[in-house]
Parts: sequence; structure tokens; C-alpha cells
Amino acid sequence: MSDNKDNKSKTPPPAGGSGGVVTGKALDWKLLRRVMRYVKPYNVTFIISAFLTVFLAASALVQPILMQKTLDNYILKDDYNGLVFIVELMVGMLIIQTIAQYYQTYLTNSLGQSVIRDLRIDIFNHITSLRLKYFDRTPIGILITRTVSDLETIADIFSEGLISIMGDMLLLIAVISYMLFRDWRLALITLIPMPFLFLSTYVFKEAIKSAFQEVRTQVAQLNTFLAEHISGISIIQVFAREHQEMRKFKVVNEKYRDANIRSNWYYSIFFPVVEILFACCMALLVWYGCKRILSDQQMKAISPTPDPISPGDILGFILCLNILFRPIRQLADKFNTLQMGMVGADRIFKVLDTDEVAVNAGKLKPTDLQGEIEFKNVWFAYNDENWVLKDINFHVKPGKTLALVGATGAGKSSTINILNRFYEIAKGSVLIDGRDIREYDVNYLRARIATVIQDVFLFTDTIANNISLNNQGITREQVIAAAKDVGAHEFIERLPGGYDYNVMERGATLSAGQAQLISFIRALVYNPTILVLDEATSSVDTETELLIQNAISKLMQGRTAIVIAHRLSTIQNADKIIVLDHGEIKETGTHQQLLRIENGYYRKLYDLQFNSAGISR
Ligand SMILES: Nc1ncnc2c1ncn2[C@@H]1O[C@H](COP(=O)(O)OP(=O)(O)OP(=O)(O)O)[C@@H](O)[C@H]1O
Ligand SMILES: [Mg+2]
Repeated sequence: MSDNKDNKSKTPPPAGGSGGVVTGKALDWKLLRRVMRYVKPYNVTFIISAFLTVFLAASALVQPILMQKTLDNYILKDDYNGLVFIVELMVGMLIIQTIAQYYQTYLTNSLGQSVIRDLRIDIFNHITSLRLKYFDRTPIGILITRTVSDLETIADIFSEGLISIMGDMLLLIAVISYMLFRDWRLALITLIPMPFLFLSTYVFKEAIKSAFQEVRTQVAQLNTFLAEHISGISIIQVFAREHQEMRKFKVVNEKYRDANIRSNWYYSIFFPVVEILFACCMALLVWYGCKRILSDQQMKAISPTPDPISPGDILGFILCLNILFRPIRQLADKFNTLQMGMVGADRIFKVLDTDEVAVNAGKLKPTDLQGEIEFKNVWFAYNDENWVLKDINFHVKPGKTLALVGATGAGKSSTINILNRFYEIAKGSVLIDGRDIREYDVNYLRARIATVIQDVFLFTDTIANNISLNNQGITREQVIAAAKDVGAHEFIERLPGGYDYNVMERGATLSAGQAQLISFIRALVYNPTILVLDEATSSVDTETELLIQNAISKLMQGRTAIVIAHRLSTIQNADKIIVLDHGEIKETGTHQQLLRIENGYYRKLYDLQFNSAGISR
């Protein structure tokens, strides 16, 4: 059971974290333009899809026209040859349409997927460059939701949103124009219910928008809950919290379900309304159309109407109505898909715009770094002015070892977190070889400072890759040499597969001591100038303890080292010891010097940790 203190003070997620409010505007053009920038590399695909969409919209109109002609010119006039010809024409049209539809679907989907692949790369790249501070405030589940499901909604902008809305609009205009052109009076009467349709579509669209947003928010919550609880499964099981956590999960799960039900509820209202309006249009068409045909026939004897309605027109109009209503039913949906895509894009760009990246303005990359470290009046806080380090001053000569000791929460880990610029200090300066660390190139600096952190983190990969971190510049020989140096070669060789042994997620298949040894090799193989070691407190068996002690002294050889020491052996061997308490330096000196201070912090710490427990190491 490991309790990670470094993560305990969590502030609520940042604005735009789980929620994210859509702008009231129908469509945020600026946002859309930004999305479209990702389309640039696929411009050809985009243009072809757009062209196919226009073509499909136009060709949909062919069906009612042909049907009208078939009925009026061939069927009613018993023209068999003409009928055969027109049927052939229809079959030909159908084949062309099918092929066009295939390519349109395929291309728009591949366009969407390509765009989100590129975006995903950008976002992952960006996330890895963010300051640790950002992660202190942002639950992992939220970031996973951003990179997976929110991105998915952007793909839909292309496959179901933008291009298809464009096609539907064109189709609407084309069909209505055709109807008006064919017989404007019949068209106007048939389309009387249209304004109601547009109105209800608009109301529906607005209602479903907020429902969808709620769904997205709940997905993020669900992901956050799952990510956290699966990572912390051992804590849940150790403390038998399954039931309590289950209850919490049920609440999150319930909310997700409710959000989905609410959005579906709007559909169940909207679709019947559309059906009713469709029926109204149809009724008007049949009533007025037939009335006109009849009166035209009666008038024929007296004075023929210049523009009579034929049965073919009625059939054509029926088909037109079908074509008209099909996209309208989906239009609200597609607008929402587009809008959801925009919400997704907005959220993703928010992550991309997070400027909490480590500033890398420094240029210095000296080839002969000595490793002299100096802290001058350093003040540091994670949040505002909750000082975690207060006016810290110390100096470590190249090749020497400084040990930091102090109670838990004293600020030891924080001291080293600012050395490699995981966090920026508020006041004072940190110098390496007499130059401010901000003058150095961050990547250079981090490559020269090997940091072995308190909690070892291992990736799902082989031992060898966990050591080299897939750095191509590090050969297998170097890995093995470092492992031998640290004294871990034998234990690695004993693992099935040796260096190719697959470490499961977070090192689950290794013991704590073994994982620590791996992290030591990881530090050594980079041959750093400065070693920063946050000694793990977890106890290991005597054999591994010896291995670790040897490994640590090996690691420190010839390097400047700052060690957060819990082991007496490490503390005793240090050239200088600093006792931290509540972010302040209380005592400085060597082991012997500090022990001599009666009632001193170090003395008390020493007695508590090593003497009274009767441990003599
Ligand atoms: N990421 C963080 N965000 C906010 N506060 C933090 C963060 N990490 C640590 N703190 C706070 O800073 C203080 C110093 O923590 P730090 O991790 O430096 O202690 P430590 O001396 O390393 O303790 P330990 O021996 O338990 O590892 C603590 O009060 C802690 O709550
Ligand atoms: Mg610590």
C-alpha cells in the first residue's frame, strides 16, 4: 500500500475542465476556421467530398422528375419503348448514385479520421510538454476524455456534420425550387406546414444541444471516476471500500444514464411531430392536387387551362416531399453533431492553448558542466503564497553530496522539484555552476540532472526499454553495463526473458526494491552530472537493501548529489546535511556535527528514526 503524499492537495479542476459551456452563437466561425486549418493537408479529399455531396443533392432531384415523366409521358400514353428507356435511365442513375455515395461516405470519414489523428498527435505532444502544475489540478480522466471521445466528435464534423449539412441544404433548395417551378400554387399549398417544421426543428435543436452537453460532461465524469478507481484499485480492496465506491459509481453512472435518456426524450417528441407535419403536407398535396386535376378536366371543354396539373406531377410531388422530409428529420441531428464537434474542438483547443508549458527560454548548453549547485534566498509555493520553501540557502560543491532530512511534508521533494524546473520558484535564484537554471536549456538541464523520484514509475514495456526509455542513443550494452554497475544484473537475468522481461503496467510484476533498482539503472545509464535522489521509504528485504545501498553509493560516485535520505547509511556518508522543517532550514552540518547539538532537530529525528526503535544500522 503506497500513499502518495505528493498528490494529496488537489484543487478543483480548472475552468473548462469537465463542463465547458458552448457559446450562444449558432456556429463559432473562428473555431471552425481553426478546425479547417487541420483540413489543409487533405484539401483534395475535402474538395472531392464536397463535389460529390453537391452531385448527390442534385441527382436526388432526378428521381421525382423521372417519375413524373414516366407516368405522364409513357405509362398514361402506353409508350412501351419509352418506358423501357426511362427504366434503363433510372437504373443507370441509381448505379452512379450508389458509387458516388460510396466515395462520399468513405472520403468524408477518412477525412475526419485523418484530421483527428493529426489533432491527437498535437494534443499528446502538448500534454507531454505541460508543467506538472497543470496535472496537479487536472484529473487524468478529463485528459483521456479530451484525447479520445472529444476528438471523436470532431471527426463527426466531417462525416456527419459540415459536408452533409451542406448537401442537405442544397437538396432542400433544389427540391423546393423544382416544386415551385413545376407548379407554384400546388407547391405553396403543399408547403404550408413548412414554417412549423422549421420552427419545431429549431426548438428541438436548442433543446438537444444542452442535453448533449450534459452527456459529454457526464462521460468525462465517468472516465475520471474509472481512471482513478482502477489506478487505486489496491487501496479500494485493501480497505474493503468496494461497496462504498460502488455506491459512488452508481451515482455517476445514473447521471450518465439520465443525461442520455433526456436527450432521447427530445427525439421521441420531435419525430412524431415531424410525422404529423409530413402527413399534413401530404394531405394538402392530395386534396389540392386532385381538386385541380378535376377542375382542369371540367374546364378542358370550355377553355383549357394553360398549365394543367398531371397525375405525374402529384407522384413527383409525393417523392419530392419524401426527399424534403428525409434531410429535415436529420438536419437537427446533424446540426447538433456539428455543434458537438465544435464543443469538442473548443475543449481540445483549450487544452492545446494551455500555456502552462515549461518555458524554455534558456540557451546555455555547456559541455563541461561541473555540477556546483547553489540556492539563494529561494521561496517557493505550489499555490499563491502558501510557502512550501521559505528563504532556502545552501551550496553544494561539485562532486559533493548533500542530504536533505526532515519530517514528512517538510519540503524535501519540493526542493528537488524546483532544481530540474518541474516547478518554478517565486523568489530568489537557483544556480548551477554559478548560472541561473533558467539560463540553461531545459532539456539540456534535465539530461544532466538525473532524478530518481520517490515513487518509481515503470511503463508497460521491457526492462531494457524501461531503463533506456526508448532512447536510441543508449545501446543494450550500456544498459547491461549500468545494470552490472548497480548490481542488478543478476536479478534481471533471473527474470523470464531477462532484459526483455515485460514489466506490466506501473511495474506491477516487480517488487518495490526491484523497481527501485531499475530506476537507479535508468539514472546511471544517462551518466548525469548531478544526481537527485528521493529515497523511497518503503522497506525492502536485507539483501535488496544491501543492493540498494551499494547502488546508491555507486550512483553518487563522482557526481554532485542531492539526496533526500531516509537511510542512515546515506545520511552518514553525505558531505553536508540540511534539516528542513516546514519549509525552513533548521540545521546544517555533518552527521557528527549535528548529533552534537543538544535538543537539536537532527538529534531528535535521529533518535526517533534510528535509536529508539532499536535499529542499529
Ligand atoms: N503538487 C503539489 N501541489 C500543492 N502542494 C503540494 C504539492 N506537492 C506537495 N505539496 C505540499 O508541499 C508541502 C511539502 O511537500 P513535499 O513533497 O516537498 O514534502 P516532503 O518533505 O518531500 O515529504 P515526504 O518526506 O513525505 O516525501 C506539503 O505541505 C505538501 O502538502
Ligand atoms: Mg517527498
